[in-house]
Amino acid sequence: MTDAGVPPDPNPTAATTSTVVLAVDGVEIIADPNRMLLDVLRLNGFVSVKDGCSPQGQCGCCTVLVDGAPRVACVTPVRRMKGKTITTVDGLAPDRRNLWAEALTASGGSQCGFCTPGIICRLEGVAMKGADLTDRDVVDKALLAHLCRCTGWQTIREAATAVAIGARNPERQPLDNEAAARRAFIEGGAPQLVGPEVALGRGGFAADTAPHDALVAVPDGDGWFVGADLDAARVGAGKVQGRRSTVRAEPPLSVPAGDWVHTLRTCWIEPAYLETDAVWCEPGGEPVGPLLNGGAFGAKSDDSLRDVAKRLACEHGRCVKVVYDREDVVARGTATRRRWNR
Ligand code: FES
Ligand code: FES
Repeated sequence: MTDAGVPPDPNPTAATTSTVVLAVDGVEIIADPNRMLLDVLRLNGFVSVKDGCSPQGQCGCCTVLVDGAPRVACVTPVRRMKGKTITTVDGLAPDRRNLWAEALTASGGSQCGFCTPGIICRLEGVAMKGADLTDRDVVDKALLAHLCRCTGWQTIREAATAVAIGARNPERQPLDNEAAARRAFIEGGAPQLVGPEVALGRGGFAADTAPHDALVAVPDGDGWFVGADLDAARVGAGKVQGRRSTVRAEPPLSVPAGDWVHTLRTCWIEPAYLETDAVWCEPGGEPVGPLLNGGAFGAKSDDSLRDVAKRLACEHGRCVKVVYDREDVVARGTATRRRWNR
């Protein structure tokens, strides 16, 4: 709160002594220093920077370059960004950006594309420091900061090698993107985009495509709190974003009686597809939901959030975006419900 008891503007539009001016991809934006960089970037339309787990700092989807060095934006306070130059994947030199996008598409190193902008920023930052991306150890070390649930690491390594030698991907035949999209449609039962733009995070995630002025709904007990924006919704729902786990780790199966030499018991694992669920809907319209491609292992086939978005849009007479954060996905998502209901 300010001295006058008025909450600070979460997205100020004019510079004051209590704001920070950021240079992002060559554009100046004015930000509240108390916010995290990821929130400010996405609020200002830099949606190639993805929110997979904020504020956990674990998935790497929000990685950007700060003065050329890779940083995860969800744990980077804006107040530390004064005078720094921030580069997202969209701010990379076009020839480098296109080379990465082509190489990742050709190798199959990007499927849904949610993780890929962050991975490109990380590897480009490593290359800018003079590291050799044909060196597998260099690439593997860089990728330790990232998760990808769709592809395999080998395909990303291949793309890094291709970029390092300035080629598209010498190991692979050019991909027929239209045929690949048709095949994906047959396999997945939903239209899917295949092409370099997907690797740049432009696959059409609902959290990115919702109208800027959409109301936002977040879980609130057994219901939903609808606010003017994400901050207002979280405040209204009493939701505190933090680094914590609320799910008890326990082995899911008891070991049957028997003469076992060894037993291996793992705890239940949430599939953790990286695109946190988001659905938006205009009153009377059809909901726009999570991309059905990507490593969701069937979890995105659940359409309960679509029904919620449709209902709330009608009730409020406005476009409503319904969102889960990572904690919500783990605690309330399809995989969790299937686990407890079986
Ligand atoms: S590391 Fe920032 S959103 Fe996951
Ligand atoms: S391409 Fe990596 S999470 Fe989908």
